[in-house]
Amino acid sequence: MTEKKTNNWLRLLTGLSGKVLLLTIIFVMLGEVLIFLPSIANFRIQWFKTHIAQAEIAALAAEAAPNQIVDVELRSTILKGAGVEAVSLTRGDKRQLILRSSDEGMVDETFDLRPGMYYTTIGQAFAVMFRQQDRLVSVIDKPPAMSGDVIEISLHEWPLRDAMFRYGLNILALSIVLSLIVATMIFAALNRVLVKPMIRLSTNMMVFGEKPEDPSRIIKPSARQDEIGIAENELQSMQTQLQGSLHQKTHLAALGLAVSKVSHDLRNMLTSAQLISDRLGEVRDPTVQRFAPKLISSLDRAIMFLNQTITYGRAQELPPRREKLQLAEVVNEVFDSASLMAGTSIKLKNAVPAHVNVDADHEHLIRILTNLTRNAIQALETRRVVGNEVCITAARQVSVTKIKVCDNGPGIPPAIRNKVFEAFQTSARVGGTGLGLAISAELTLAHGGTLSVLETSELGTVFEVTIPDRVEVLNEKIHRISKT
Ligand SMILES: Nc1ncnc2c1ncn2[C@@H]1O[C@H](COP(=O)(O)OP(=O)(O)OP(=O)(O)O)[C@@H](O)[C@H]1O
Ligand SMILES: [Mg+2]
Repeated sequence: MTEKKTNNWLRLLTGLSGKVLLLTIIFVMLGEVLIFLPSIANFRIQWFKTHIAQAEIAALAAEAAPNQIVDVELRSTILKGAGVEAVSLTRGDKRQLILRSSDEGMVDETFDLRPGMYYTTIGQAFAVMFRQQDRLVSVIDKPPAMSGDVIEISLHEWPLRDAMFRYGLNILALSIVLSLIVATMIFAALNRVLVKPMIRLSTNMMVFGEKPEDPSRIIKPSARQDEIGIAENELQSMQTQLQGSLHQKTHLAALGLAVSKVSHDLRNMLTSAQLISDRLGEVRDPTVQRFAPKLISSLDRAIMFLNQTITYGRAQELPPRREKLQLAEVVNEVFDSASLMAGTSIKLKNAVPAHVNVDADHEHLIRILTNLTRNAIQALETRRVVGNEVCITAARQVSVTKIKVCDNGPGIPPAIRNKVFEAFQTSARVGGTGLGLAISAELTLAHGGTLSVLETSELGTVFEVTIPDRVEVLNEKIHRISKT
């Protein structure tokens, strides 16, 4: 318990609070020094002026003596009382009264304090404090009681030095007390306004970092509007985003594992189905004869795909094995397997001209177009009206094949329009995983192409797949053209 307390204090002193405290003390002391410099210089002048006032009174007292004759003893008492060695008063241009002690020596320096004649120099004040020997100085001023025009006194500097030290020590003590009071107040204020919220922020970061998936660890911003408030809000949105992507990653990882397991066992089941369907080819029934090859090829494709998934991991697709394909035939294959799903109420229209070729991986292209066709059929299924149609058209533009998959369905729900190509982001359809378009976009991209929504409204949707020819195919073509 006490160790924890000591640690807290240590953290307070070595942390931001300690630095704030130290800086406040330093700056307050610095402020005090700046005030001390002119005030010590002023103190010296006031000390001189006090002695001049006392000396004037002493001089006037001496003047009151009969015939202005003052005996030695009285003179020394008067001068001692005034704290000076000599005083002289001048009226007009005549020195009228001079009182001086018998042992007055030579004056070392004269200061004139009359208005316009002197200026307070901090340097002179400090020179007195650091001087090692006592000096006799003379000070000239206007007599404060106006007993004459000029008064001049001479006095020893040593008592001034003592008084200055006493004054300096008093100021120092006061400074320490003041700086402690001010520092404590500033410290308390800064601690409350800045340091504590900063500690809250950094503690929250540490706590959140230990378990970022825990929603209760996301910072709850205070209602502050200042920079700390902004930082809290930003941190909150960063933590929320991070948590979101963490959830997605965890989901993906779990799904990846599940896909591997499912693929493995599904492949085994499909292999048995394949063996059985092989036997179907021997049945003479014409309907069976028509559908058996399609069933067998679908199963072949499914097994091959599952094998790839198991071998190369969940997220990695094999690079496309591209070849020149007649697109209309590929669309026929896609529609053949989708026809059962479409039933009789949805017409599947292959409007791809026979001359349109595409340079693509057969398997990948089937997957792309199947996903788009299935989506269109699923969208149309929600509308019970006549005239439902899914149509695939295509055209070649220079070296790019542009394929359009159109439907006259209800359009993509507006809420998900911006993110249909993001995996798991679209849950508009019951039973949909939100993967179909993400996979199709990835497969198209692997061909150097693009998948985009050209139009979508309550009148229907058009998806466009563009697949450019490979560079080698292009070079070959250029070569052929240049030959002819
Ligand atoms: N032609 C379309 N018309 C209307 N909405 C569409 C169309 N194509 C896609 N969508 C919307 O986009 C969403 C995403 O489609 P996507 O194929 O990625 O996932 P899914 O169909 O929900 O699930 P699955 O992974 O099984 O394909 C769909 O749920 C659907 O709401
Ligand atoms: Mg889909």
